[in-house]
Amino acid sequence: MKVTVGVCGGIAAYKAAELVRALQKHALDVHVVMTQAAQQFVQPLTFAALTGHKVITGMWETPDESGGSAASSIEHMDAAQTTDALVVVPATANILAKFAIGIADDFLSTLYLATTAPVIVAPAMNVNMWQHPATQANVETLATRNVRIVSPESGYLACGMTGAGRLAETEAIVEAVLSVLHHRNDLVGETVLVTAGGTREALDPVRFLGNRSSGKMGYAMAEAAQKRGARVILVTAPTALRAPADCEVVSVTTTEEMRQAVLSRLEQASIVIKSAAVADYRPKVQAGQKLRRSGPLTLDLEPTGDILREVVALRHPGMLVIGFAAETDDALAHGREKLMRKGADAIVLNDVSREGVGFDSDRNAVTFLTQDRSIEMAEMPKRELADHLLDEILALRRPRQVLAEADAGLPVAAGD
Ligand SMILES: Cc1cc2nc3c(=O)[nH]c(=O)nc-3n(C[C@H](O)[C@H](O)[C@H](O)COP(=O)(O)O)c2cc1C
Repeated sequence: MKVTVGVCGGIAAYKAAELVRALQKHALDVHVVMTQAAQQFVQPLTFAALTGHKVITGMWETPDESGGSAASSIEHMDAAQTTDALVVVPATANILAKFAIGIADDFLSTLYLATTAPVIVAPAMNVNMWQHPATQANVETLATRNVRIVSPESGYLACGMTGAGRLAETEAIVEAVLSVLHHRNDLVGETVLVTAGGTREALDPVRFLGNRSSGKMGYAMAEAAQKRGARVILVTAPTALRAPADCEVVSVTTTEEMRQAVLSRLEQASIVIKSAAVADYRPKVQAGQKLRRSGPLTLDLEPTGDILREVVALRHPGMLVIGFAAETDDALAHGREKLMRKGADAIVLNDVSREGVGFDSDRNAVTFLTQDRSIEMAEMPKRELADHLLDEILALRRPRQVLAEADAGLPVAAGD
């Protein structure tokens, strides 16, 4: 497989050489594109020697002595069509802005627009540049467009300051590249049923009991699964979001409508991801007319159906069932208790009491809980998190397959 490494003009440009070597160790054919600024930091010769390929250093360079500009002017299209992934290391604030806006004024930014291959960016810069709202907005934009962000780490920076902005470790970038290459189509043949948003229970014709869920996490899960080749059924409570293209969208309002929509499609699903925040109670009686103010009001509520529990009870063999839990206190204990009580394969635990993550935020930090594991996922854009969660969800299949093979008398490799 061919991977194109885009090197930008940051202090960490020299670390791209280490990345090239690390990618080659995974039998990847690595090609390098350098921006003008990158060439102030590292010589193209370094990458040419490492890769054995000519390094692309500009849009208008001639391929060789006899070549003409006509040949070089379509080189970006060739590179765009033949690469299996584009990884930009270090990604400068400048290139993130150009990618986000769609400026194509050099080879790398033109390649970014022209390729349909997955794109990974590993930003590195001064902490103030990284935390600037412009940079953060650009990163969010790219994340929503399915660009994989390998977030920078915190530590002592070359500029003498301490904070977030240091290029992620080479291993983390390699892992992102491999996972993106591997992701392509790893959900082909699966039907993923995702629930999203917050259900509403009417009190009267104008008011409802609701919750603060925006649906962003569920929509990110749906989009990630769809991009990885799954057929996706998105059962969604009202949100302000546009549904990802090519998903089958079923719009519902109440918990009961969501229950019926899910159960009637359960037969088709191989993975059920219940990321919606459902109302656990609904008014016993719904007022036919708008309730008027007249002193204290007591609402008589009754529990709604427990969709997750019913899905677990009705699951067919091989189906994975994943629940979400939003907790405000003693999150881990409540998450574990929910996992055991519901019998799901995993619970994605959201500690919504944390500032800046969870409800309505574009970012989230969760714990992926299974019977025997507890995997902390640090704060990141929800779209990026969705891919990490899908990785862990698919990993749940592995031990089962080994067990199934053992049951069928097939050899099981030692150490499995
Ligand atoms: C010594 C030096 C170090 C720099 N380091 C960084 C950096 O780490 N990250 C960054 O985003 N920009 C950094 N810059 C600024 C970029 O080089 C500048 O924004 C340039 O236009 C980036 O071009 P490019 O994105 O096309 O590579 C640095 C500039 C200098 C002079």
